[in-house]
Amino acid sequence: MEEKNLGVIFEGFFSYRKGSLHVEDTGMQELAMAHDTPSYIYSRNYLLSQVSRIKSAFEQVDTMICYSVKANSNLELLKIMRKEELGADVVSGGELRGALIAGFPPGKIVFAGVGKKDEEIEFGVSRDIYCFNVENEEELSSLEKYGRKYGRKVICNLRLNLDIDLDTHHYVKTSRKETKFGIDTVKAEEIIGHSGRYKYASIEGFHLHLGSQIKEVEPYLKAMEKVEEFNRKIKFNPRIIDLGGGFGIPYSVRDKVIDISDFGKSISSIVKSMGIEKLILEPGRFIVGNTAVLLTRVLYVKRRGEKTFLIVDAAMNDLIRPALYGSHHTILPVAEPSAATPSIKADVVGPVCETGDYLGKDISVPADIKKGDLLVAANAGAYSFSMSSNYNSRPRPCEILVDGKDSEIIRKRETYEDLWKAKI
Ligand SMILES: Cc1ncc(COP(=O)(O)O)c(C=O)c1O
Repeated sequence: MEEKNLGVIFEGFFSYRKGSLHVEDTGMQELAMAHDTPSYIYSRNYLLSQVSRIKSAFEQVDTMICYSVKANSNLELLKIMRKEELGADVVSGGELRGALIAGFPPGKIVFAGVGKKDEEIEFGVSRDIYCFNVENEEELSSLEKYGRKYGRKVICNLRLNLDIDLDTHHYVKTSRKETKFGIDTVKAEEIIGHSGRYKYASIEGFHLHLGSQIKEVEPYLKAMEKVEEFNRKIKFNPRIIDLGGGFGIPYSVRDKVIDISDFGKSISSIVKSMGIEKLILEPGRFIVGNTAVLLTRVLYVKRRGEKTFLIVDAAMNDLIRPALYGSHHTILPVAEPSAATPSIKADVVGPVCETGDYLGKDISVPADIKKGDLLVAANAGAYSFSMSSNYNSRPRPCEILVDGKDSEIIRKRETYEDLWKAKI
């Protein structure tokens, strides 16, 4: 098998025991028998360990860690984050409602998003959420309007577009000037210059979210440097910096990513030297990304010439990242291959009628793999279930949360009836 040293991805929470893949103390085989496939399987303790890693990395400054709900909005997972005293970063009225249902205190909710509707802004203001990350001047006028209506100050952070490039997929770079996100510094200076016209919308800081799956610290350091320069130029002292999220995770055992503890130290010392009162972070992928796998079963092994296709029961509607971004997911058999078993290369594909419907290409699998065998696509906690759909009228998988030897369904498998609910 290609993938050795799985600890880089799984940190010991998923491992082979007695020849079969386990999540914590629970066998995947048993989970497949109990819940069928495809199923998303989460490790509760891995999730908690990621939360505690990021908390301790930033404990030197006043940091509000707001879990980015878009990464995975499962209500039970949100409740875990809330119990861990995280806040929530939301980008829509739906996410805001989800965060409130999960019990996040409004004072720990931050609202970003390039196209907030007036009704979403009003809902956020009426619930007295902590702040809005503002994307343009008209949005400030709406915030002023609803601040006046509800008689409350609305904290606003201007989302800056600092034209910073990243080594990540171009769909998730959000800080280049050609993207739709943020306000450039010329416009930001103008807005701050006439901020006196707002009585309720109070500009107190900047939002800097750069993009996603960022594997180096340099872009963050560069962003902070640019903000410092900008503050000096316009003589503005932001009280808040919301650095956004984007902290990368290893998708394969070869991936090098940010060391969160060193990263926390460098950012904290800059925050202190800039006299910032409050740092906000919006991690999504870092917290959930590697804490789940998509468990799937081989339906057919199709051999044609040189090529082998494993046709599995999970598809692009369940996990769209490979089709959308060409993303790599580590794919492993549930039955541990013996050292003596030769491996072959195969494309792991779903039943959807699109050539782009694949989970992995040229994946090393045991040569004797056959119909009925189980596989997992790892790295499936973030932007996986939350981006799933019913394409090809396929009901979406269930989600199972494992805690040691225990497991619970945290979202039921959709039924065929569910598919038509909104239509009849
Ligand atoms: C504004 C904002 N904050 C936070 C995030 C979370 O990013 P990640 O999951 O990479 O940490 C995103 C994701 O795109 C975002 O748009």
